[in-house]
Amino acid sequence: MDNFQRYYANVDAFNKKAAFFKGISGTPPFEFPPKEMEEGYIIGVGQNHRPVSIKNITEHVLFMGGTGAGKTIGLTGFIVRNQGEIKFVELDRVKNDYRNLRRHLPNVRVHSYPLRTFRDNFLQPAGLADTEWDSIFCDLFAQQLQMVSGAGTSLYLYQSIRELKKLVQPRIPSLFDLYEFIRAKKERPFSENFKYQERILNRLAALIEDYGSVADCSEGYSCEDMQDERYNDVIELPMKPDSASLASEVLIFKNLRYRMKLPLERRRKPLCFVIDEAKCVFGIEKAHVRYTGSMDNLSILISTSREFGVGFILSDQTSSLHPTVFEICSSQALFRANAEITVRMGKVMGLLREQVDWLTTEGLKVGQCVLKTGNFPPVLVNIPFFNFQKDVTDEEIRF
Ligand SMILES: Nc1ncnc2c1ncn2[C@@H]1O[C@H](COP(=O)(O)OP(=O)(O)O)[C@@H](O)[C@H]1O
Ligand SMILES: [Mg+2]
Repeated sequence: MDNFQRYYANVDAFNKKAAFFKGISGTPPFEFPPKEMEEGYIIGVGQNHRPVSIKNITEHVLFMGGTGAGKTIGLTGFIVRNQGEIKFVELDRVKNDYRNLRRHLPNVRVHSYPLRTFRDNFLQPAGLADTEWDSIFCDLFAQQLQMVSGAGTSLYLYQSIRELKKLVQPRIPSLFDLYEFIRAKKERPFSENFKYQERILNRLAALIEDYGSVADCSEGYSCEDMQDERYNDVIELPMKPDSASLASEVLIFKNLRYRMKLPLERRRKPLCFVIDEAKCVFGIEKAHVRYTGSMDNLSILISTSREFGVGFILSDQTSSLHPTVFEICSSQALFRANAEITVRMGKVMGLLREQVDWLTTEGLKVGQCVLKTGNFPPVLVNIPFFNFQKDVTDEEIRF
């Protein structure tokens, strides 16, 4: 009998007993966590009052649940408990919760796009071959900014970047340089190229307005620095969803590719990207814009990232996430949620009918989740309350 069959046999036996005690409502139809679940990265406490762990963060983790269910407290508590073993990089948008980790951990660095303390030139290849990065960037740019014309625009952009880079080398041009360069091109009115030029200029103008000098800097940010295992890095993304999405994809891509080239001794700890409100990077709307395939690039990159010790913890509500997220994440923590999310996650996590029924009737309390990780059966977990101080101001992180 393998683990899985044994688990179902146990649950069957449990359910028979539960049927006998039918009068007692609210007995959760979940097994107690086996002893092996104490090893790994601790997330909370099981029904047996013993610690419960996530088995393998480099096979990626999904936190799922409604607003106010305890996801952010669960995540920040997880970071604080495991920061000795894992190097964390948190991507934060709008809420700016994670900067407050400064109150709970040493060596927290906060890099902010809105405050312009984070400077990344998108055209800077960061350890990759120049042409390779340029084509990745064009792909991300075209898809992120929803250029319906697809391949033609992307190619036009790519050729423009290559021409410009040759012209100004060894300097790396900024997005603003790129804007000026493309604007100066003489295209025959109403030709295909004319259309591409117009579209790209519109998009670039919007980006430049959002990023300003942040993206005009060829230094400031380096992948090398971001890999430093002594620090916990919080990155506050731009406010606008389009810009936040492009900035985070560029960042993730650069760091993953850079990491793949790092010698083993430079990556002792696993690196874990924590993306709360993950819809800004892995949003459902990307399922509708597939022509350039960059969501596919991202999911391929993420599935190979485990070999380089990189994990993702994504947190959000099911309804807003891209479907591939469920294939990518091998551990799932389901928090309190409405029936629709619960039933859908029940399928993803292989919950039994009785378990889903219990969840939709009795339900989870705030700070509780059902965790499915590794080959273990789904278990009920209580997450200890974590008094997350939220008083770090802009002034403090501007340094
Ligand atoms: N483990 C917990 N134990 C007790 N209360 C909690 C716990 N987690 C969260 N809460 C309460 O619920 C509130 C919302 O939690 P939060 O993590 O911000 O939810 P979410 O991120 O899912 O929207 C918190 O401010 C806190 O008061
Ligand atoms: Mg939250």
